[in-house]
Amino acid sequence: MSEGLAIRIEGLGKVFDGRIRALSGIDLEVREREFLVVLGLSGSGKSTLLRCINRLIDPTEGRIWIFGEEITAAKGAQLRRLRRQIAMIFQQFNIVRRHSAVTNVLSGTLGRASLLPSLFLKFPQSEQERAVAALERVGLGGRERHRADTLSGGQQQRVAIARALLQEPKLILADEPVASLDPALRHSVMRHIEALNKDEGLTVVCSLHDVDLVRRYATRVVALRDGHLVWQGRPHDLNRDTYKEIYGTEAEPATNATI
Ligand SMILES: Nc1ncnc2c1ncn2[C@@H]1O[C@H](COP(=O)(O)OP(=O)(O)O)[C@@H](O)[C@H]1O
Ligand SMILES: [Mg+2]
Repeated sequence: MSEGLAIRIEGLGKVFDGRIRALSGIDLEVREREFLVVLGLSGSGKSTLLRCINRLIDPTEGRIWIFGEEITAAKGAQLRRLRRQIAMIFQQFNIVRRHSAVTNVLSGTLGRASLLPSLFLKFPQSEQERAVAALERVGLGGRERHRADTLSGGQQQRVAIARALLQEPKLILADEPVASLDPALRHSVMRHIEALNKDEGLTVVCSLHDVDLVRRYATRVVALRDGHLVWQGRPHDLNRDTYKEIYGTEAEPATNATI
C-alpha cells in the first residue's frame, strides 16, 4: 500500500446481533497528519466506525489497515502493538472521578484504571514526570493532585487527552469529544487536540456536530448517513445542499453560522 496512509478501510460493514446494520460498504483512506471530521446524525454509525478502527468492535465485513498493517487480521501481540498506536477520546471522558488528575493519566498506561486507588507513588519516577508534563501540555500544570471530580468538564476531558498522550499514539480517535461540554468550553479541548495534530503530527479522526467547530478544525470531512458514507469534502465545501444530503431534507444547521 502507498506511503503516508494512516488508515485504509475497504468494504467495512457492521451488523449488530445479526440484524441491526450499523455500517455498510465503507471505503475510506485517511492520510497521515489529516484532521478528519466525521459528521452524521445520531445513530448514523460514527461511533461504530471509530470503534472498528481500533477493534473495540469487530467488523462484520471488510478490512482495515493502520499505518500499513492490517488490524482486522491482527491477533495477540501484534494487535496489542497496533492498539497502542491508537488513542481514543470519548464523549464521557472515561476517567475515574475519585482519582487525582495524575493518577488518571498514569492509569491510562495500565488500561485498568478502576482497579487502582491512588497509585501515583508506585509508578516509576520517569513515568510520574511524563504524566506531570502531559498535564502541563494540556494546561493543567499545578492541578496534578486535584481529584478529577473537582475539575470542570473541559478540564476532565483534558485529563483524558493527557492520558492519551502518555500512550505516545500516532493516531487519535475522538468520539464527540466536546459534545458533553458547555459550548463556551469546547475550544479549550479542541485546541489541544489540534495541537497534537499540528505540533506532533498525529493523525486525528474526530466525530463532531457543531458546524463551527468542523470549519475551524477539520482538514477534511466525511459524512455518514444510515451507515453509508454519503459525502466527502473540505470543510469549506459544506453548504446548505450538502447539509441536507448529510442530515436529510428537514434538517437545518444547528448553528447560526452561514454554511
Ligand atoms: N452495541 C450495539 N448493539 C446493537 N446495536 C448497536 C450497538 N452499537 C450501536 N448500535 C446501533 O448501530 C447504529 C449506529 O450506532 P452508532 O455507531 O452508535 O451511531 P452514532 O455514533 O453515529 O450515533 C444505531 O442504529 C445503533 O442503535
Ligand atoms: Mg456515537
